[in-house]
Amino acid sequence: MKKFLLLGDVHGNYPALNSIGKYIQPQRFDRIINTGDFTVYSTFPNETIEWFREKKNTICILGNTDRRVLRILKGKKLKRPKKDEKRVMYFWTSENLHPENITYLKSLPKQTDLTVSHIRIGVFHGTFNDPDEELYPSAPERRFHELAKDSRYQVHIMGHSHVPFYKVVDGVHFINTGSVGRMFDGDPRASFAILKVSSGKIAVEHFRIPYAVEEVLKGLKNHDLPDIYAKMFRIGKKLN
Ligand SMILES: [Fe+2]
Repeated sequence: MKKFLLLGDVHGNYPALNSIGKYIQPQRFDRIINTGDFTVYSTFPNETIEWFREKKNTICILGNTDRRVLRILKGKKLKRPKKDEKRVMYFWTSENLHPENITYLKSLPKQTDLTVSHIRIGVFHGTFNDPDEELYPSAPERRFHELAKDSRYQVHIMGHSHVPFYKVVDGVHFINTGSVGRMFDGDPRASFAILKVSSGKIAVEHFRIPYAVEEVLKGLKNHDLPDIYAKMFRIGKKLN
């Protein structure tokens, strides 16, 4: 049996990531998979990236926030987001990332895949044909049928919508890890999932665990970043 730790949408929230690491012992897993959005909205992008970098068994891809940070670093204009309070978080991140972590982000793909016991597993931020598609469990059933029909993968591991779910449609397994560091459902605890694959069998379990939100609030305060994010992390809701 192969065991995978599924993480995603950490958004620089190292205290949440570190709590998962302590709770779950990452070394017990064959692979640690990260569906992207390492950065933005919390003040620990370096610690977050380094947590993944220092492990040998990770499979990581970029998310939309990481791609935007890289665009800023290339000197390109940031068209979106439009809201000032969001833009501040992007620019703060791009100014504070260490060079070796920038190099690491630049080395990552937008999506990837692996094969385990003849099962093809795709890793996406959104979906395989659009990294920015927010796929919710409440999406029309026909969208899942379309994705299942067009897909080369039996298992889709996804992030981006920040909503943890597991759905099997037409024999295709759709797993959203939820967000490690920026939950939207009113429960501020960190979300992650575990995938087990053994001789054609697939098992998925989701978890929510508490972490020291005060550490995140302290980081935002120390760097004079918008108050709206302190509230967002405290209550676990999207506010802007
Ligand atoms: Fe995200």
